[in-house]
Amino acid sequence: MTDTFTITGYSDGDVDTNDTGARSLESMADERYSRRQALFGGMGTTGMAVFGTTMLSACGGGDEADRSPVVTPGAVAATSAGRVVTLTATVAADVLAGTWSQISGEAVTLTMVDATTATFIAPSVSQATDLVFTYSAPAQRGGTATATSTVRVNAAVLGFSAVAKNLSDVVTVPSGYSVTVMTRLGDPLASGVSAYANNGSDADFDKRIGDHGDALHFFGLGAGGARDDHSNTRGLMVQNHENLNVQYLHPNGPTNVASGPRPQGEVLKEMMAHGVSVSEYVDAGNRKWSYVPTSAFNRRVTPATPMQFSGPAAGSALLSTLFSPAGTNGRGTVNNCANGITPWATNLTCEENWAGYFRRDASGSGADTAKRSVREQTALSRYGVTSSTGNYAWSSVATTDTLYTRWDARAKADTAVQDFRNEPNQFGWVVEIDPYDPTSTPRKRTALGRFGHEGAFVQAVAGKKLAVYMGDDSRREYLYKFVSNTTFAAADGASSNRIAIGDKYLDAGVLHVAKFNADGSGQWLPLVFGQVPARPASGSTPAYAFADQADILVNARLAADAVGATPMDRPEWTAGNPVTGEIYLTLTNNNAAGRPLNGTDAANPRHYNDPRGASNTAQYGNPNGHIIRLRESGDDAGATTFRWDIYLFGADSADADPANVNLSGLTADNDLSSPDGLYFSRSTNPAGKVKPVLWIETDDGAMTDRTNCMLLAAMPGTVGDGGTKTITNKDATGATAMQATIVGAGATAATLRRFLVGPVQCEITGIDMTPDGRTLFVGIQHPGEDGTPAAPSSHWPDSQGATTVAASVRPRSAVIAITKDDGGVIAL
Ligand code: FEO
Ligand code: CA
Ligand code: CA
Repeated sequence: MTDTFTITGYSDGDVDTNDTGARSLESMADERYSRRQALFGGMGTTGMAVFGTTMLSACGGGDEADRSPVVTPGAVAATSAGRVVTLTATVAADVLAGTWSQISGEAVTLTMVDATTATFIAPSVSQATDLVFTYSAPAQRGGTATATSTVRVNAAVLGFSAVAKNLSDVVTVPSGYSVTVMTRLGDPLASGVSAYANNGSDADFDKRIGDHGDALHFFGLGAGGARDDHSNTRGLMVQNHENLNVQYLHPNGPTNVASGPRPQGEVLKEMMAHGVSVSEYVDAGNRKWSYVPTSAFNRRVTPATPMQFSGPAAGSALLSTLFSPAGTNGRGTVNNCANGITPWATNLTCEENWAGYFRRDASGSGADTAKRSVREQTALSRYGVTSSTGNYAWSSVATTDTLYTRWDARAKADTAVQDFRNEPNQFGWVVEIDPYDPTSTPRKRTALGRFGHEGAFVQAVAGKKLAVYMGDDSRREYLYKFVSNTTFAAADGASSNRIAIGDKYLDAGVLHVAKFNADGSGQWLPLVFGQVPARPASGSTPAYAFADQADILVNARLAADAVGATPMDRPEWTAGNPVTGEIYLTLTNNNAAGRPLNGTDAANPRHYNDPRGASNTAQYGNPNGHIIRLRESGDDAGATTFRWDIYLFGADSADADPANVNLSGLTADNDLSSPDGLYFSRSTNPAGKVKPVLWIETDDGAMTDRTNCMLLAAMPGTVGDGGTKTITNKDATGATAMQATIVGAGATAATLRRFLVGPVQCEITGIDMTPDGRTLFVGIQHPGEDGTPAAPSSHWPDSQGATTVAASVRPRSAVIAITKDDGGVIAL
């Protein structure tokens, strides 16, 4: 919203002798008052004007020197942080061009739009704060006209109208906002690469934007191409490419997936469409964004890119392969989901569902089983490395090229350095990439543990140990925290030797796993060799005793089992409130087997049905998910204890029981299901200060009968702002069970609103903003994922803003830039 404040300046102090008109002081005052009313009238929403009633003061005539400025309207108008304020002076004909300046209040940057108009963005304030401005201009007949206006800035509030749920094949944003499509699947990242034909014929994905764009981050670039964390107009977009809409990558879909052998060209294309991309974004002025296809910074990190292992597991025999007998290096990264950003401006990319890419012996009686120890088999099954083909059957290519054969993780030879039985151990890590150096070798940081990494939120406070919060996204997996041995020195954040700084903080420390107690307390349990007992036997799975710290890190899930961590409803993203330091974690959903009626706990309290569609298809478990949050003891990220509550419960407001399911009181304007991406506005702008905006992205399949996936903006409170509650869960048989939990304050229209709805069959994932908060970048992943090459089920992004799109147009994952038409801070 733009707030416009008008004041009126005069050149002639003696209005009764004004030679441009013989009007009375009173009549002019009336005119001015009416004009302001007219300007403010019709804006009519929050943050609008509070008028002063004193209109002007005037002084009488005299000689020319005495007839200096005379009018001070004295209006007090109100706005709120982050909004664009326009100051306009109305001047008489004989006043020359003047200028606005600030007299008092928190300093703002005034931009003169023309001779009488200036704009600024209302700064962040914690309470109503008056800013006073003056307009002064010379008059032809001597003297200076001045007029003063006071603008009252209130604390930031959500300032957009909620977007309605919908099933349209476009990105829908609030009125007053615009969408620019940025990098899309297949867009070229180097000179000489053809424009994407989008018909399955394209190759060269090592020089194109990959598929399934997930987490993203805007790394600022300044003049000369150096890192500039404050740049709002140029930067490097670093985005993960998690997976594939494989049917659209080939003319008629992939071939020989079931029986093999897969054509090598197809597999190479699919492999190269995974990984991470770096692409340069520029603003041509006033947030007119585009990307630079030939930038020297552009890069693709793929499953073939050389990687180096570091930390305690580097060099472990568990990482030894034919390619890297020493277990110190490897090739590539795969299934990169969410991310983390370090203070020294590197990108942490997280390997999530890597386990499915490997081939094993499914029979349990072949050579693979015979050549492996019981311990190896226990570890592989705990991580789900059990496929008999591997995703897309990459290892079925008829070749001896180890780029392909390494996806066959069967033990075939006599020793692990003669085959790729340990290749699965080379994945499941957090990987650090220096986005500013296209030639740098990424590091796999083994101290952070190996699991199905979703994201890695870094909390760094000068003088304290640095912490990394990480979800393991699978049903009944855990929340982890790595704490560095070394306290963080702020100067390291500015170092240009970025990977070396990563070595300093991310290679030595203690990995912990979270236990959530029923009373709202929690503990971080250290996963340290010598302190972790053997994982007990369960069912047909034998006990697992750890050999060393590398074993604990490679098999962090087994270690977390052993210490009694709390199994969660699929831990996805983590995010930290930049003001309170509280950590938020999305628990996207669980099914009835993963969260049965008698298997709930205080931190994962619900088992219920969300009926879906016209036939009310049952969905039991926790199909809508929730968001838990925690506050570290002493507000120290290195603490070993915390307090927690459940900030928000997903629910379908149209059919959820308000007493036992819709526990946050969601309405049609803010109901959501399966929260996934989680991000706070940057603390460099008003949306990230005082009461920062939390952005929630969904990857849903439960409420998609009513709407496509969405992005919501929230202003959360703090841990403990609600209370305890006991709910009654009910399963498919009608049986019930009571569960006590801790529920945060309910959502209201002021604290949670739907900001965006995506196109058909997408998930919304990946989010960042420019430091000034005036451009929001959002990832739209896998639109049309259920379609076929012959009948694509989405045509986005071509459908965005188009009246007609050919039915054959294939959908593409893409990044969008969202801007506010008046240039204000997004969401405020
Ligand atoms: Fe890749 Fe858990 O989302
Ligand atoms: Ca429903
Ligand atoms: Ca995700």
